[in-house]
Amino acid sequence: MNIETPPQAATAHGVVERLRTHLNGAIVGQTAFVDRLQLALFADGHILVEGAPGLAKTKAITTLSRAIACDEKRIQFTPDLLPGDLTGTEVYRPEHGTFTFQRGPLFHNLILADEINRAPAKVQSALLEAMAERQITVGGTTYPLPRLFMVMATQNPIEQEGTYPLPEAQLDRFLMHLRIGFPDPAAERTILKIVRGEAMGEAPAPVAAVTEEMIHAARREALQVHVSDALEDYMLHLIFATRSPAGTGAGGSVADKIAWGASPRGTIALDRCTRVHAWMRGADFATPLDVQAVIHDVLRHRLILTFEAEADGITRDGLIDDLIASVPVS
Ligand SMILES: Nc1ncnc2c1ncn2[C@@H]1O[C@H](COP(=O)(O)OP(=O)(O)OP(=O)(O)O)[C@@H](O)[C@H]1O
Ligand SMILES: [Mg+2]
Repeated sequence: MNIETPPQAATAHGVVERLRTHLNGAIVGQTAFVDRLQLALFADGHILVEGAPGLAKTKAITTLSRAIACDEKRIQFTPDLLPGDLTGTEVYRPEHGTFTFQRGPLFHNLILADEINRAPAKVQSALLEAMAERQITVGGTTYPLPRLFMVMATQNPIEQEGTYPLPEAQLDRFLMHLRIGFPDPAAERTILKIVRGEAMGEAPAPVAAVTEEMIHAARREALQVHVSDALEDYMLHLIFATRSPAGTGAGGSVADKIAWGASPRGTIALDRCTRVHAWMRGADFATPLDVQAVIHDVLRHRLILTFEAEADGITRDGLIDDLIASVPVS
């Protein structure tokens, strides 16, 4: 432990700036994505990322693991992958005449699960189960996963042929569903410079000196952000407005376009992301603006539109905009 570290509260929040500078130094022009990656880390949740190839998804995980000095693992999902390839298997040791458990790639801190929709359901569910339970049971023995355990799964929006789309019900296990777009021309020029520099063997940016313990301290502090009763009501009204078509007042017209609304897990995720969002900007209480800042990423994968709404070209993001517009701030 560093003796010069300032008191707990200051240290925990100082982590945000350190990580942000480190990540934005390596990943250019993707500030929204970088921000949400941090939010997920502090909220102790897993993320599903959708974006074209080559948008620095792999680089984001590598950069993050370098910053925290923790270990990372990339797993490419393919149709021939087996659940045991993720969790690990019991291996026979003839010299001892016994079986020993060989840990699989899930036993790491940061997991990049690339193209999860390329593996069949059994493998997907092994991943999702590990994500939710944070432990793996093989041959009657349970092995806990590391305390810092975060999965970033990717789905490629192009080339859907031959894939196994994740069941909607399972998507719920992701705290957020992020979409990454292309960087702007200025950022892309900077990317060229960075990559050329790396190829010439230039030293990478100094490590952010963030420890795993700092992340845990940050998580504890973020959990203490105050949410008033009125704000809790606001969150509940938003969630309930996605549910019954009978309508809860103003939300009715939005719910008419939704076949299946957000689950209680969605409510929990909204609350947690709202708190962390407030904490990351240095506040000790959350406001409706924090809710509105995170709600798209929290609900995007939790709403199933009706066939008619899909046919009318309504998007989930558009619907969430309508949701915010139709539910009054309490
Ligand atoms: N915003 C960015 N900032 C810095 N480098 C970038 C950025 N976008 C792309 N790159 C560079 O582009 C290359 C591709 O990035 P990376 O391998 O991380 O992409 P990816 O999203 O994982 O792609 P894939 O989906 O094909 O796995 C890397 O050399 C990376 O450094
Ligand atoms: Mg990649």
